[in-house]
Amino acid sequence: MAQKVQFVETVLRDANQSLIATRLPYDKFEPMLPTIDKVGYYAVECWGGATFDVCLRYLHEDPWERLRKIRAKMPNTKLQMLLRGQNVLGYAHYPDDFVKLFVAKAVENGIDVIRIFDALNDVNNLKVAMEATIKAGAIASGTISYTTSPVHTQANYVKMVKELKEMGASTICIKDMAGIMGPKEAYDLVSAIKDAVDLPIDLHTHSTTGLAFMTYLKAVEAGVDIIDTAISPFSGGTSQPATETLAYALRQLGYQVDLDDSLTKKMADYFKTVRDDFIKDGTLMPKSMATDTQCLTYQVPGGMLSNLLSQLKQMNALDRFDEALVETPKVRKDMGYPPLVTPTSQMVGVQAVRNVLDGQRYKTVSKEIKAYCRGEYGRTPAPIDPEIQAKILGDEKPLTGRYADTLKPIVEETRQKLAGVARSDEDVLSYIAFPNLAEKFFAERKEKEENTATYTIVEA
Ligand code: CO
Repeated sequence: MAQKVQFVETVLRDANQSLIATRLPYDKFEPMLPTIDKVGYYAVECWGGATFDVCLRYLHEDPWERLRKIRAKMPNTKLQMLLRGQNVLGYAHYPDDFVKLFVAKAVENGIDVIRIFDALNDVNNLKVAMEATIKAGAIASGTISYTTSPVHTQANYVKMVKELKEMGASTICIKDMAGIMGPKEAYDLVSAIKDAVDLPIDLHTHSTTGLAFMTYLKAVEAGVDIIDTAISPFSGGTSQPATETLAYALRQLGYQVDLDDSLTKKMADYFKTVRDDFIKDGTLMPKSMATDTQCLTYQVPGGMLSNLLSQLKQMNALDRFDEALVETPKVRKDMGYPPLVTPTSQMVGVQAVRNVLDGQRYKTVSKEIKAYCRGEYGRTPAPIDPEIQAKILGDEKPLTGRYADTLKPIVEETRQKLAGVARSDEDVLSYIAFPNLAEKFFAERKEKEENTATYTIVEA
């Protein structure tokens, strides 16, 4: 029998996040949801990552309501979210009670698959979220944040995968957020993981460097079960490679792909017009769609490149871009080779820019880097450069255990604080994740309702 390859469609989350800074409002994709539901995807990634933040911050949408609406329109397809382990959807670690309730509510509101990763690949940071996912009856996808460094060896990845299985992962995801995984690395790593555990493996990469199609093909040859792709108008560049192209090529090579081509065609036609609107208003920039091989040299994810650019632009220092780019991997090495993914990518990027603009390394240090050096983000892949760590911490001693163990429960206290304002535990969770944004959102929601109410009375 032909080997079957399954697909995760990313247009609603990662493609949306990578190409148009997650600015896709619910109304723009709603008409397509019944179609997407019938295509035959393994899962549709539609929530988590930056979507939560952006819903509240820019789109004036309740992220929970958005999820429920997607669920209602897509009863047949597994809905997937991306979760930053103990960081949940934020940028620092949360107490366990918040992580547990967040996961439970995500599943209750419609999520089937939770892809759980940690920016440092510290499995201690995945444990609580994994347990909560399994308890809620959803699929826990234990995730490797893929990167390359002298300490990121195949043996270490295999060791991590075994730990993930031990923790109850139903699937393993190899998450190559920067699109730096080459075809040989994919073949070798997928083969090694297949040998080590009998779990379905999902490979996630980005087209940023142009490697993705080749990487997926070799991963499929090594037996990968699931690949992440984006419908063609939202594919390529910093996004995933195109769904239809991979379906076509893999079928030609004799693999079984159960996607309905007439429906992906319908999706492509629809999302072309959506994409064109974002090109017209300047949200989708040509450089996001282009191939950029700089990442192969600097190991800097695409999203980070655009962050570096905008940071330097704000400081009127665009001419220092090349220096900042060279400094980035140096900072990463000093910090013990963290994979560059949210939030470490931002932390390392900001520090690299500071080092360049200050003309002196680590003269100024963000509070996040300081927390990182204290151990608040977990165990680093390699030790932090001891001299730099000492310079940053002064007399402070770094933590040895799990940072979340030092955090007090937060949920009950917040429920009480928000009495009369929050209408549900979902509101409470939004508030804990993003207090200022949630507060603003609650006020806007109330105002909108009052306006509607007045209108109704006038009508009557
Ligand atoms: Co991604």
